[in-house]
Amino acid sequence: MRFAVHRSGRVGFRRNGSHEIENIEVCPIAAPAIEELHIPLSRWHGVREIEVFSPNSTDLEGVMDENSHKAVVAVQPRGRGALRNLPQVGTSKVELMVATHHRDGAGRLEVSMLGRSFRISPGAFWQVHRGAPRTLVTAVLEGLAPQPNERALDLYAGVGLFSAFLADSVGLGGSVIAVEQDRRACADARINTREQPQVQIVNATISPEVIEGLDSPDIVVLDPPRSGIGRANLQALMALQPPPRRIAYLSCDPATFARDIRIALDAGWSMPHLRAFDQFPMTEHVELLALLDPP
Ligand SMILES: C[S@@+](CC[C@H](N)C(=O)[O-])C[C@H]1O[C@@H](n2cnc3c(N)ncnc32)[C@H](O)[C@@H]1O
Repeated sequence: MRFAVHRSGRVGFRRNGSHEIENIEVCPIAAPAIEELHIPLSRWHGVREIEVFSPNSTDLEGVMDENSHKAVVAVQPRGRGALRNLPQVGTSKVELMVATHHRDGAGRLEVSMLGRSFRISPGAFWQVHRGAPRTLVTAVLEGLAPQPNERALDLYAGVGLFSAFLADSVGLGGSVIAVEQDRRACADARINTREQPQVQIVNATISPEVIEGLDSPDIVVLDPPRSGIGRANLQALMALQPPPRRIAYLSCDPATFARDIRIALDAGWSMPHLRAFDQFPMTEHVELLALLDPP
């Protein structure tokens, strides 16, 4: 969960489509281990943002390993100075680490999933629903059916979630290129795929020039933020020669997703498959997965 902090030190959420902060005391859909920390009941002076990560998985056997039962509270300071007098949070059931985003190395989490382990640093992206990484990886692999020796491209790769599993499927004779703009996420992705020499992590902001500079892949996963991939990037991707045999487009925003899918359909691509996941329960958000095949 990510909380915004007002100048007064009070904690809340940003209002829909706004930077204004709505103060809160409880969030009814928070994971219990986060709720127990009572983050919003304290004043967080000098803090801009708080990110709390609890992989405590009593309700999802096998998603996380036993050693990862701790909560990480990562705080982003307002200014450059050191933070003093942070509130005491936590209970005996939760091992707590307070990490600041600028203190490198503190507060990293290890999450085990489908037999692989992932390091996630504060600020790096990780799917927010605890069942989502496993569900989405399974759906993407089913949809793309990666074959040994294929070349895969993972755009908006985060800490390498899809790259690691694609690399297992394509094997040492194949390749995976992962493109991600966040430096911390790229550092995690390098660690998370360190035993997979077929993976190359590229720290770059996705643009038509970056895409045109890539060798044409057989399969592509693209998982952009809410703004979507956009016309210019998608057209550059579809123009690669030969075109990828299949693209898996994951989205958490139906509006930009529909806009981008329209661009692909108008260019003659087809959408043989579309799935929706209720990954953000009790909110209006849904996660979508489309498969796109070339003309
Ligand atoms: C929805 S997350 C997906 C991450 C990853 N696929 C996963 O499932 O864990 C989107 C990722 O894209 C990255 N990102 C956002 N805009 C980008 C851009 N223009 N170029 C490259 N990466 C970008 C973000 O830092 C974030 O890690």
